[in-house]
Amino acid sequence: LKINKTARKTRDFVEKMKETDKTVVFFYGSQTGTAEDYASRLAKEGTQRYNLKTMTADLEDYDMNLLDTLPADHLAVFVLATYGEGEPTDNAVDFWELLVTGEDVPEFSVGDYEDADKPLSHLNFVMFGLGNRTYEHYNSVCRRVDEKLQALGATRIGERGEGDDDGSLEEDFLSWKDDMWKATCDFLGIDFLAGNSGPRQATYKIQEHTAEEIEGLKKVYYGEHQEPKFMLGSRPTYDSKNPYSAPIAISRELFEVSADRHCLHMEVDISGSGITYQAGDHIAVWPVNAEQEVNKLATVLRIADKLDTVITVSNTDPASTKLPFPVPTTYRTVLRNYVDITAPPSRAFIGQLTPFAPTDAASKLFALWGQDKEAFRINVADARRSLGSVLEKILGVGQSIEIPFDLLIESIPRLQARYYSISSSAKAHPTSIHLTAVVLDYKPDVAPEETVYGLATNFLHNCHGRINQSGPIEPKYEISGPSGSHLVGETGVKVPVHVRHSNFKLPRNSAVPIIMIGPGTGVAPFRGFVQDRAQDAKNGKKVGATVLFFGCRREDEDYLYKDEWPELMKGIEGAQVITAFSRQPGVPKTYVQHRMNEHKELIWDLIHKQGGYFYVCGDAKNMAREVNHKLIEIAMTVGEMSEEKATTYVKELRGRGRYEEDVWS
Ligand code: FAD
Ligand code: 2AM
Repeated sequence: LKINKTARKTRDFVEKMKETDKTVVFFYGSQTGTAEDYASRLAKEGTQRYNLKTMTADLEDYDMNLLDTLPADHLAVFVLATYGEGEPTDNAVDFWELLVTGEDVPEFSVGDYEDADKPLSHLNFVMFGLGNRTYEHYNSVCRRVDEKLQALGATRIGERGEGDDDGSLEEDFLSWKDDMWKATCDFLGIDFLAGNSGPRQATYKIQEHTAEEIEGLKKVYYGEHQEPKFMLGSRPTYDSKNPYSAPIAISRELFEVSADRHCLHMEVDISGSGITYQAGDHIAVWPVNAEQEVNKLATVLRIADKLDTVITVSNTDPASTKLPFPVPTTYRTVLRNYVDITAPPSRAFIGQLTPFAPTDAASKLFALWGQDKEAFRINVADARRSLGSVLEKILGVGQSIEIPFDLLIESIPRLQARYYSISSSAKAHPTSIHLTAVVLDYKPDVAPEETVYGLATNFLHNCHGRINQSGPIEPKYEISGPSGSHLVGETGVKVPVHVRHSNFKLPRNSAVPIIMIGPGTGVAPFRGFVQDRAQDAKNGKKVGATVLFFGCRREDEDYLYKDEWPELMKGIEGAQVITAFSRQPGVPKTYVQHRMNEHKELIWDLIHKQGGYFYVCGDAKNMAREVNHKLIEIAMTVGEMSEEKATTYVKELRGRGRYEEDVWS
């Protein structure tokens, strides 16, 4: 492996650990910030309880070729999320390619090992994975990295931990952690039981700026995510760290069955941005928190009167250079733009608030909800209570609490972008990206008196109201912001977005037939696919059969893009939409799988005989699994295969990239 020597110096984590006197490094592969949050929590706990010298490290910031040079009495901890179809997170792609998918054994460069087949024989590591059992490749990234590290001679300390986001990730993490610390302490020769639980050591310091100081500041951040990176001195690049503020060109309701059941079609303008995309890619939307939530929390925390005070947040450990958001900024911006105040707070954080409780009753509740899994589940997790609501519930309405702001920053995750399957084709719409999103709100079963609003979709809905002059919609979002905010342009409302490229792609050869299964908003990428193929047909290319199975409740209610399909499909020979209505009056409940059954000969012909591609998009939990079974069943009935053979057949289709899924839960 050729390594650029100058680049290596700054990316050398071993050197950095030496310089800053650290012995345990917590690497994270994180997409939505949870793995990063866990890595930080572990690093902090290691320092606080066991006096370890820890640092956290974003995998993409360091040269992982140097893993073999980590001294044997040091420890590398990996906290790795599996994303989508068994893929690594964006920041772990290089590491993954180096270690797992690279053609050869990585040539670890300067290790002073003896056995060439075991270049990592000095390395000791700990592993925790974050995954979701709904997906077939559950936690496959951490499993495969674990396996590969050991194959290269490294030693794992303790059991590998795995968390399930479909169950209770936080609980899996908490219950793994104690045994892990025990094993780590044994390895490092530290007395586990002597772990100190002394006073909290702050990770961050907050400095409030005076008016004179503010005048001397170069810039105050009001929602920007980082300074844009300029490539070749020209355009900035937009990615998961730096979104583009895209003007909303068009926003309309695709259906509006009731106030709480509606779906948005939005087109954002990317002209001049340099952003490119292909049908099947994802667009990430960066929401802000609703004004009500910001104000509620600020009031409970007794900081409502100083929300616009300019503050700088810095690390208490001089060796840490990373900050959770750009500074200087304001309290309001932190709560509105940078941290996730609507997701339920973690059980650990609630427990940490106990000493700050203003009354005995509150203290008891903080301790109970922080320790008792069941009490936490009922009152916080299942009730989907935000931090503000949890505090209100514990303290009583109108009561307040003072907690260190740095504890809040340290304990609640950063606000994350939400992904949407792009519902347009760049061939048909090179300067805009379309998205199709159901606006989420619901009343949790265990707290039916409260309405929970989905963050990103309600943020978009609010933008929609402003675009269409119907005004701000509840909940309200302060999207105009103070001067300097990048959300409102001169001509209209903008949303911060970036594109994430995916493997969910049409076959290169447009003549290859495709079958698309996309109930509900699962139809989004298929609108892009059909636009793409319609464009190919218009350009004189041969386009193969293009069959879409779409399901919704009622033809007259939520049939997405109903009026567009005939026009789009008319130029493509053999193109059709096959519908399944599940709540059509007077008609038995029908799902896409039922329709697949009715059209099994067609499906078999296109897939088996004509070498077609099979695509599924939408609900990961039930639909995608049932569709998979249905295809196996078709291989058995029409293809006359045994169950075993049919299962292998469908698996092989996946292996060859001819059965692709774009699913979410
Ligand atoms: P959040 O504030 O994030 O709230 C959502 C959370 O609320 C859920 O995770 C769940 O924990 C909880 N929740 C939801 N309903 C209930 C309930 N009834 N009871 C209790 N808890 C509940 N969505 C689309 O609409 N269109 C798309 O094209 C699309 N494509 C996607 C592609 C990918 C690759 C992925 C990963 C997701 C996609 N999604 C799509 C989903 C989307 O990213 C968001 O998750 C969704 O819009 C909700 O976001 P939100 O911020 O509004 O809600
Ligand atoms: P339902 O809500 O009436 O049960 C889009 O959400 C469509 O997908 C709706 O018609 C919904 O039907 C249907 N749907 C729900 N569960 C499904 C499943 N397991 N498989 C296929 N479609 C499903």
